[in-house]
Amino acid sequence: MIIDIAQACDLVIFGAKGDLARRKLLPALYQLEKCNQIHPNTRIIGAGRANWTKEEYIETIKKTTKTFLREDIDEHIWDKLIFRVHFFNIDVFKEHYFTKLKKILNQTNNIIIYYCAVPPSAFHAIFEGLGKVNLNLFPSRIIIEKPLGVSLKTCKKINDQIAKYFLESQIFRIDHYLGKESILNLISLRFANSLFFNNWNRKMIDHIQITVSEEVGIENRWNYFDEMGQTRDMVQNHLLQILTIISMDQPKNISPTNIRNEKIKILRTLDTINIDNINEKTVRGQYTSGNIRGKKVPSYIEENGANPNSQTETFVCIRVDLKNDQWLGVPFYLRTGKRLAYKYSEIVVVFKEMPINLFNKPNNLSRNKLIIRLDPNENIKIDFFKKTPGFNEICQLTSDRIELSSSTKTTSNRIDAYERLLLESMKGSQSLFVCREETEEAWKWIDPIIDSWKKTKQNNLKLYPAGTWGPKNSDKIIMKDGRYWHEFDSK
Ligand code: BG6
Repeated sequence: MIIDIAQACDLVIFGAKGDLARRKLLPALYQLEKCNQIHPNTRIIGAGRANWTKEEYIETIKKTTKTFLREDIDEHIWDKLIFRVHFFNIDVFKEHYFTKLKKILNQTNNIIIYYCAVPPSAFHAIFEGLGKVNLNLFPSRIIIEKPLGVSLKTCKKINDQIAKYFLESQIFRIDHYLGKESILNLISLRFANSLFFNNWNRKMIDHIQITVSEEVGIENRWNYFDEMGQTRDMVQNHLLQILTIISMDQPKNISPTNIRNEKIKILRTLDTINIDNINEKTVRGQYTSGNIRGKKVPSYIEENGANPNSQTETFVCIRVDLKNDQWLGVPFYLRTGKRLAYKYSEIVVVFKEMPINLFNKPNNLSRNKLIIRLDPNENIKIDFFKKTPGFNEICQLTSDRIELSSSTKTTSNRIDAYERLLLESMKGSQSLFVCREETEEAWKWIDPIIDSWKKTKQNNLKLYPAGTWGPKNSDKIIMKDGRYWHEFDSK
């Protein structure tokens, strides 16, 4: 049952000492505490491999929370938060620790939520450990996060392992993009406005561009990233989530099941990319050294711990075609990369030309566009044409741009993705989480792309200097179709 307030929970964070817990989860819990969103009886149990007392744990997390919070710590809120915090020393590979954990969890009737903030190699031990002492039973909930495998096969394995102990209704798979305000707003934008709704099809739309550009490099996660590459790390999950939300049919209602079903239908209509069309539809690149905001940065293969022969892609551009009535003939161009010139995410919907042109529209004027900036400075703009002002004839056109919504950057109610997702899990609502089928359908489409790259070996990796917009070939992918990337505008 879904209720609209957070229930009294015991939130057990496996991997309490790790990066995710310290960077994201604790700052998010602090913010939820500040907004009075956490139930008064909720407990937070950090579980990790250390002989720490509660006090030692709190001291450590205070340091990191201070670093990762977007503001100074308010001692009053911090005290409220740490009153709930406990630390539990656990080796997830040993059963007797779970028996001890059970004793702690039996102290209350709270709903138990397990957050697996650990590498996937420890997932199975946790599922099994909880299962052995019946800590897996409904209504407990479990949160897992990517990478959910590196292929369909490995993803299925994780899904099968968890399904042995937990029902699908207990499993909350995180894709943090689904917690972002701007992504959620896409659903409202599309289905609450007849202006957009009625024009959202192949009759009106020429093509759609989705760009997720990052300035960051690999930092200290070279080994993880090198196994993944940008396609598995970003496209399999975040970009495909954006694509499904932007292209799905109107769901019967906005219930989690109906939205997920529509998204799954889209994943099933993605045209397969294989050895026959891999070169025509994809470009993969890797960054060389360069400058980002005036600072020199090393190449991918010179990062800490790197293998100089790595052929992993840090950039990818894909032309995606959908085989359904609504989108036949409307390509979706996806591109994402690390160490690009600027961090931003944007969807650009490019409309078709007028069927009959009554005006002198210079060739350099582009088409009508709906530009949805997801990050930063979230906003929506429309490019349109109007008469050139002055004594000119009516048929002289210039292009103009209107901004439909101002940036939400400065609004005080901006909610971080992890805050929203933690809160939703405390409410028991799965709408913003990914279901098993979505993860597997996404891999089904990604696997042949990665296999085809392997088969075509070295010649398909294009180098690009850090601080640019990726390899020139990504322009070719769109230009050979007579189209252009929408130019980045930092406003
Ligand atoms: C993560 C990826 O899922 O998303 C990272 O593993 C990536 O490699 C990050 O940098 C991007 O998230 P955001 O919210 O900064 O766009």
